[in-house]
Amino acid sequence: METKVFEPGSEIKERARIKSMEEYRALVEEANKDYEGFWGRLAKEKIDWIEPYKQVLDDSNAPFYKWFIGGKLNVSYQCIDRHLDKRKNKAAIIWEGEPGDKRIITYLELYYEVNRFANLLKNRFGIKKGDRVVIYMPMIPEAAFAMLACARIGAIHSVVFGGFSAEALRDRIIDAKAKLVITADGAYRRGKPYLLKPVVDVALAKDCESIEAVLVVRRNNEEIKWHEGRDYDYNELIVQESPNCEPEIMDSEDPLFLLYTSGSTGKPKGVQHSQAGYILWAQTTMEWVFDVKENDTYWCTADVGWITGHTYIVYGPLAAGATTMMYEGVPVYPDAGRWWRMIEEYRVNQFYTAPTAIRLLHKMGENEPDKYDLSSLKILGTVGEPINPDAWMWYFMKIGGGECPIVDTWWQTETGGHMISPLPGATPIKPGSATFPLPGIFAEIIDQEGNKKEPNEKGYLCITKPWPSMIRTIWGDDERFVKSYYSTCKKNGKPVYFSGDGALYDEEGYIWITGRMDDVINVYGHRLGTAEIEAAIGHHPRVAEVAVVGKPDDIKGESVFAFVVLKSDEGVADELEIMKEINKVIVKDIGPIAKADEIAFVPGLPKTRSGKIMRRILRAIAKGEEIKQDTSTLEDPSVVEKIIEVVKR
Ligand code: WTA
Repeated sequence: METKVFEPGSEIKERARIKSMEEYRALVEEANKDYEGFWGRLAKEKIDWIEPYKQVLDDSNAPFYKWFIGGKLNVSYQCIDRHLDKRKNKAAIIWEGEPGDKRIITYLELYYEVNRFANLLKNRFGIKKGDRVVIYMPMIPEAAFAMLACARIGAIHSVVFGGFSAEALRDRIIDAKAKLVITADGAYRRGKPYLLKPVVDVALAKDCESIEAVLVVRRNNEEIKWHEGRDYDYNELIVQESPNCEPEIMDSEDPLFLLYTSGSTGKPKGVQHSQAGYILWAQTTMEWVFDVKENDTYWCTADVGWITGHTYIVYGPLAAGATTMMYEGVPVYPDAGRWWRMIEEYRVNQFYTAPTAIRLLHKMGENEPDKYDLSSLKILGTVGEPINPDAWMWYFMKIGGGECPIVDTWWQTETGGHMISPLPGATPIKPGSATFPLPGIFAEIIDQEGNKKEPNEKGYLCITKPWPSMIRTIWGDDERFVKSYYSTCKKNGKPVYFSGDGALYDEEGYIWITGRMDDVINVYGHRLGTAEIEAAIGHHPRVAEVAVVGKPDDIKGESVFAFVVLKSDEGVADELEIMKEINKVIVKDIGPIAKADEIAFVPGLPKTRSGKIMRRILRAIAKGEEIKQDTSTLEDPSVVEKIIEVVKR
């Protein structure tokens, strides 16, 4: 099939910072020639240093790379204070609640909010540099204030997505040994109030000795239980604090935050990010990829609980001095035109969302966008999973009117910011391709020995040189860090970062991401480890064995398909009942996002003689495909037929 190519139009070229492929190649060349010089130049230009760094990169203890050695800075200063001269009355955050309530927070107001919050953390709760603070919040401005307040005093935040269960929240609190939880009574979703604080109560009911207090922001004033001596009312306390708080002087390499993500084993990984390298790339990619300009309104629809919300709702836009929008609720409330109405009303210029949302809104309201004036839009973005050409074309034509470049940004929690993406004013785009690595990023598709793959040959998507915004380690587990990212592929004999994704080049060198090569699945753009879901299902008393695979889904990207072997031969007369119970266990252990869409009760699982479950076979069965793999090496080849029988039923 012939792939269409769309060149950037003249209007976008004119306003873009990087205006042509020649300019793009010049930057790539600059980084090729003098790697450290390139990063040093950006760091000097973009960061307001308290003290300049003495060395760009220290690779003496690879893969524990260090960047901008000896530099001192404060990320909240970079995001707020330094803008006050020119932008004190500019909107920093425009927020809309699901019920339609609105708040506009200027840079000066943001300064006061964050400083009061920082003082509250310091004075009332004794939070110091290096302490961990868990933020379990809905999408309200206070979530951003909390993150920036931590950054201001040097506390390390760990934002936990509000859709995670009490058990998942507890695991993260314990792993980080957090001192404080910041939460809200609740928020609004699908037209109804829901509660978060009770989830925190359940999480803290056991094993969370490190927690000294819970700070509760009032959002919906629903009735909640109050634990005297542990719970504190944010709204009451915040007004008592001074609106000025000196920013803590931080080292380039001090941790800025932890963000837990799924890997191929059951336990989530606390991805640790740094100060200088992270904020440098967050800001630079805001400028290069979204090309935000002074008067632009930029909107990313992610949740702050994910990396996209960290880098492209809070840190990146604010470091770049932009206006960032935040929306509390779901895209389909009260109808599938909610987002398009908001784009019209706020005259949004850059809009960044996920393929799963695009597919959902396409399905629910193909012509809904026609009712709105979307002509303010300049650039569209997508992230989280490969976007299918159908969804791409609808997004391009219906939302962008055929004139807005789509930046298909490939990156990960671990990379901190965009790695592979078109540049809106330069790159000719192809529907479904993330195109080329950004300047300074050495993303390559290779085999395990580091040989570059030929066009149309699938390989390992690796980043073969370190980069400033990269993961520093897995919190408390250096060994797992090395094993997870630096033990699969080598180049010139040296271990290189492997992303976990497969990808291929086309004839013109465009990069096409083919998806995860490990046991991670992608549901609604959320990363879930099959091992995590299996562990949860295993908690059901009647489950003997379980294997979970992803099955392609038109809207969700992938859906959760569980193959379950029950303990006794009592049969599965109560099949429906057990399915419900299994999903209850998943919701309890992880959260509703990980619910199984299909559960097949099978007599056994396809295993090799050494006991390894052959997931490839299960994936094929889930998809209803013919089994191409050789099954003769299985311990019991006949089990495959039996499983197919069950699934067909
Ligand atoms: C997938 C989200 C194809 C990929 C920022 C990656 C993508 C995982 C894209 C990271 C894209 C992200 N095209 N696949 N543009 N962007 N992915 O950590 O599998 O939540 O490894 O970070 O999402 O998910 P994470």
